[in-house]
Amino acid sequence: MADTKVYRASTTAPVNIAVVKYWGKRDAKLNLPTNSSLSVTLSQSDLRTLTTASCSSTYTGDDSLLLNGEPSDVSGARTQACFRELRARRAALEAANAELPKLSTFPLKIVSENNFPTAAGLASSAAGFAALVQAIANLYELPDSPSELSLIARQGSGSACRSLFGGYVAWRMGEKEDGSDSKADLVAPASHWPSMRALILVVSASKKGVSSTSGMQQTVATSGLFQQRISTIVPANMALMEDAIKNRNFPQFAEVTMRDSNSFHATCADTYPPIFYMNDVSKAAIRAVEAINAQAGKTVAAYTFDAGPNCVVYYQEEDAATVLGAFAPLLATAEGWKDGSVVNASVKLDEGIAG
Ligand code: ADP
Ligand code: DP6
Ligand code: CO
Repeated sequence: MADTKVYRASTTAPVNIAVVKYWGKRDAKLNLPTNSSLSVTLSQSDLRTLTTASCSSTYTGDDSLLLNGEPSDVSGARTQACFRELRARRAALEAANAELPKLSTFPLKIVSENNFPTAAGLASSAAGFAALVQAIANLYELPDSPSELSLIARQGSGSACRSLFGGYVAWRMGEKEDGSDSKADLVAPASHWPSMRALILVVSASKKGVSSTSGMQQTVATSGLFQQRISTIVPANMALMEDAIKNRNFPQFAEVTMRDSNSFHATCADTYPPIFYMNDVSKAAIRAVEAINAQAGKTVAAYTFDAGPNCVVYYQEEDAATVLGAFAPLLATAEGWKDGSVVNASVKLDEGIAG
């Protein structure tokens, strides 16, 4: 009898905000980076992608993706690479066990929603591709570990490989040409440093002018400063950051975070023509963090900006009153993801994606 069943699986995935940034590809096809990076995975109860993957022999046509209610193109090489790799793993299971339904031969329908702004510098591509890969892995009942799945998610969006883990996560750039050693690993679980919090300052919820993919390619091609970043600055920051996390040393964590964000945005300004992701409000947020630390007489807050104007401030729970109190008067009281709002001022860390 023909199998007309619709097979379905869902997952949610968290965003991660890097404290040592990925910026630059040495191989655009395989999405291999020019440097290692390190991030903090934020709680899915505040920022997350929810993705459902389904497949059926009754589906006709090509694979499809509905993103935030709109049809989205899946013909790009990176989404195709994820589908291809996941199908190959499913096909291997089917080859080994004739009783398994041949899901690898059915069209895929993916439905995904982000509960925060998409393409605004808040890591939607990270949560988005981590969720896409995990949802299909669940649908196909793949036995692969988070680290193995991170190799696939990386090909969708580099930063996505880090969202397969909770807590403090490194993406090791690797050395191999085929990218088989360019994957994420856990530096420390969220429970290692449970007082860590993030505040998210929405400067603009709009889509950025220059995507991360395009921006970093322009930087690699034109910035001289970038060479120094990848050869000396980032390797030093990675070592200092791992040490800061291991010892729960907030001042060191904070200084490296702020310096690395500044270094990344300096290479954007050194790109020709220059790319500006931060705007005047972003810069005011930097000054506000400096004022908080100066007034406290120690470092209690650290700003960082991805490829967009939105600010993430890391702080520890014991300093919540100081840090949030200082930001309160600067902000509109808008609810939700509106420009000028602080949303989810006390985002905790995530323990890890649901496998
Ligand atoms: P961001 O700073 O939000 O990560 P990027 O420029 O890196 O911005 O990537 C944005 C792109 O990521 C979107 O245009 C879309 O192609 C992809 N993306 C975002 N969310 C999802 C999702 N939930 N599922 C699949 N792809 C997604
Ligand atoms: C500034 O992972 O979005 O957020 O691999 O081209 O999809 P693609 O880029 P993406 O770049 C993220 C850049 C960053 C820094 C970081 O997350 O490490
Ligand atoms: Co991105």
